[in-house]
Amino acid sequence: MSVTIALTKGRPLKDALSLLKGIEIEPLVDITASRKLIFDTNHADIKLMVLRGIDVATYVEHGIADMGMAGRDVILEQGENGFYQPLDLKIGICQMMVAALKDEKPLPGRIKVATKFVNIAKRYYAEIGVQADIIKLYGAMELAPVTGLSHRIVDIVETGNTLKANGLVTIAHIADISARLIVNKTSMKTKYEAIQNIIMQLSLRVESQ
Ligand code: PRP
Repeated sequence: MSVTIALTKGRPLKDALSLLKGIEIEPLVDITASRKLIFDTNHADIKLMVLRGIDVATYVEHGIADMGMAGRDVILEQGENGFYQPLDLKIGICQMMVAALKDEKPLPGRIKVATKFVNIAKRYYAEIGVQADIIKLYGAMELAPVTGLSHRIVDIVETGNTLKANGLVTIAHIADISARLIVNKTSMKTKYEAIQNIIMQLSLRVESQ
């Protein structure tokens, strides 16, 4: 019975591949240099897929991928109920933050917040009881307060370099983010042994790092 593991492309891919290498799962070609999206590995019964983070969660939820490595940011945005989350992989560590211009002007009663993480932002502002209109962006959130599109942004911060380079500072912390192992609920039953084996090995690997 074969197991498909979906990985997040971009920045987190290198760490995910090195974690898999640590448990002796390796793609047969260099994934980072390929335009392919599905890859055979040194195990005939394990395949890898490379997707955008938000799509990793969708593919796992629908059982096309049995397992995935996805950031807690996309998991919180998408909703946590569609799959199991057995393991914190402790890679891709960053923070979900609210940021604003360093020299921010006084705010109106109802503020504008630009973000890629609309659901996270809506939940956060509802929780703290601040009226906020959320403006959906797909990237370069830092530009929004600089250009006057929004008062604040909700975004992930890793080194803080992007905020600093654009004259922004963090205002509030929303969540700690790291990559999580996620597992399709049906696969967990039908492929129990193979999946438990991978979870156990990854767990030992994560703890030993
Ligand atoms: C993320 C995030 C910030 C940046 C933060 O963007 O949206 O722009 O990283 O990292 P830093 O604190 O180390 O500067 P990413 O590069 O993932 O691209 P994106 O705009 O497509 O989200």
